[in-house]
Amino acid sequence: MTPGHVPVANGHKLNLRHHLHCPAHLARLATAIHPHEILSQSHQDGVNDRSPPAQGDETTDLSKQYDTPIGLAHTTMQALKDRIKLHYDLASDYYLNLWGEHIHHGYWATDESKANDTKETAQINLIRLLLDISGVGEGSHVLDVGCGVGGTSRYLASQLGCTVTGVTISGKQVQIATRLSKAEAEKEAMEGTSVSADSDGFWPLGKGKVRFIELDAERMGEFFASDAGTFDAVWISEALSHFPNKALFFRNASRVLKVGGKLALADWFKAEGLGETEFKDDIKPIEDGMLLPPLCTQQGYLDLAKGAGLKVFGGPKDISKEVSKTWDISWSLVQNPSLWGFAFSQGRDGIAFLQSFRAMRRGYANGSFRYAVMAFEK
Ligand SMILES: C[S@@+](CC[C@H](N)C(=O)[O-])C[C@H]1O[C@@H](n2cnc3c(N)ncnc32)[C@H](O)[C@@H]1O
Repeated sequence: MTPGHVPVANGHKLNLRHHLHCPAHLARLATAIHPHEILSQSHQDGVNDRSPPAQGDETTDLSKQYDTPIGLAHTTMQALKDRIKLHYDLASDYYLNLWGEHIHHGYWATDESKANDTKETAQINLIRLLLDISGVGEGSHVLDVGCGVGGTSRYLASQLGCTVTGVTISGKQVQIATRLSKAEAEKEAMEGTSVSADSDGFWPLGKGKVRFIELDAERMGEFFASDAGTFDAVWISEALSHFPNKALFFRNASRVLKVGGKLALADWFKAEGLGETEFKDDIKPIEDGMLLPPLCTQQGYLDLAKGAGLKVFGGPKDISKEVSKTWDISWSLVQNPSLWGFAFSQGRDGIAFLQSFRAMRRGYANGSFRYAVMAFEK
């Protein structure tokens, strides 16, 4: 395929470069390239999550066709948050079609698991690991911060009978999460029965319930002021690395938790003591492409949590080697011209996002980029 040209629904190809300067054109393009088309093309191309893992840093023909323009400085942290919101508003249908309802890594704890478990199973394995180390129990009242399209929230409600409030900065994710939860609730009810949310907006799932709220989590302290000290658990999976003010998050988590409540956390980190070259080659493209303020080390999170009055309860458990397969699968999934076309239609952030997948694999291979789970108690 010609670089910058992408197939659209009517079988024609669009030259994306003609549209790049006009936001209105870009928005129309983003909707013209339908996520189902990308999914079906991935399947036609035989891309699946059992593709053989490629080693280290791999440039493909497709990735070579698209240059990543020079990184944009985050002029203000609000500007970064606006870009994060736009990214998830535009891309969440694509995440759902390509990755499913969980927008987080998979966890393959053993060679046997690596050989046999699909990414969907591995994603549930990660949730189970975080449950184990945090001790979040059945029937808990949980605040799922940066909840994506609600995969974890629904799991905690349906499997553990939890009452879960999910918050995300993306209004589109709230729409998708609510739609998926309603559909699951209707499936559980008698066939053909319509199910509605209760007066607080919760949808019944198993013995638990879920609701979703559009909220910049940096405001959660004020938003949940009247619920201060009432949550059994705050759950945050791969969202804190997006937050500019991490100390504020730990203070807010401590504020909403009841005494003895747990903070369950999974996230991305840079290794301790990186040299300038490793930082520039491995970490910078990840921060740039994944829309992250400067990444922290694991010790950095421990210090912030302690500063907010939380005690370490479980971990930190570094599981970089057990999760890195996620990016071999993801790199295979994005070897799809339509997806690069869609990314191109979003401007430089879209291309930098896909290009950063290579940096993720390189960072894991070099040990400069790390993944860990940890839990805290109030
Ligand atoms: C990588 S996704 C993880 C989604 C989900 N936790 C999961 O594991 O499937 C990151 C999430 O963080 C959310 N997020 C990023 N910045 C946020 C903010 N300031 N306030 C609320 N949500 C935010 C995004 O909207 C997205 O849902």
